[in-house]
Amino acid sequence: MKFEIITLFPDYFSLSLKQSLIGKAWDKKLFDIEIIHLRDFATDKHRTVDDAPFGGGGGMVLKVEPLDRCLHALGYQRRQDGGNADRPERIILTSAAGKLFSQRRAIEYSLLERVVMICGHYLGVDERIIELYDIDEVSIGDYVLSGGEPAAVVMVDAIARLIPKVLGNFESALDDSHMDQLVGAPVYTRDAEYAGLTVPEELLSGNHAEIRIFRRAQAIAKCAKNRPDLLDNADLTKQELKILNENKND
Ligand code: ADE
Repeated sequence: MKFEIITLFPDYFSLSLKQSLIGKAWDKKLFDIEIIHLRDFATDKHRTVDDAPFGGGGGMVLKVEPLDRCLHALGYQRRQDGGNADRPERIILTSAAGKLFSQRRAIEYSLLERVVMICGHYLGVDERIIELYDIDEVSIGDYVLSGGEPAAVVMVDAIARLIPKVLGNFESALDDSHMDQLVGAPVYTRDAEYAGLTVPEELLSGNHAEIRIFRRAQAIAKCAKNRPDLLDNADLTKQELKILNENKND
C-alpha cells in the first residue's frame, strides 16, 4: 500500500508519522508514504496555489490547476479518461464538508494499493477538482480544523494499522472500539489494586470464555454511557438487549 499526501506543509508529516507503531512499520516498508508539495505544481514564479473566491467573501481557495497537474503527474486519471473508481486506489480530499471518516472506511481503504490524500486548506478547494476526478471528500469529525494535515495524519494512522503485519498482534485489532459497532471494553493492567480500586475479578479468573462475556458486557455498558447512538446499529443478542433494557435508567 502506498499513501501519497499532497500538502502545502510537507514538514508537518516528518515528525508525526515517523513515531511509534506507524513510524516503525513505515521503516520496515510495510507501506510507503510519499509527501508531495503542492507548490511544486504551480507554474508561476511565486508558486501560487490559491486565489480569492469568485462571488466574494473572506478566505482563499486552492486553485484547481496545480491540483489537476499534481494528480495527473501521479498517474491518476480524470473521470473523462476512465477515472479510478474501478482501480484499487482512492483519492481523498480532507474537508469539514466531507462524509464522516469511520472504522468501516478505514478498513475499506486499508485493502487498497494506493491512497492519495489532498490536504484542503484555507476556505477550501475549487469544487471543479471534484468534478474532474473520482474523489472522496472525507471529514474526521464535526468541527473545523485550520488545515487538512491533522486529518490526513489521523486517517493514515487508522488505515495503516490495519495493513497486514503492522500490528504485532492483529487479533487485538478485532477488540478495538468500533470494530463491532461498539466502543472497546475498559482495560486494566498491573497493579491489581491501586488507590483502593481493584481490577474486576472476572479479568483475573484466567477463564477465557468468562472474560470474553464479561468484556462484551462492559463494552455494551460503556457504549450505553458514552455513545448510545451506536447501540441502534450494534449487533446485540436478545439476552444483551434484555439486559440493556432492564438497565436503561442507569
Ligand atoms: N479540514 C477542516 N476541517 C476538517 C475536518 N473536520 N475533517 C477533515 N478535514 C478538515
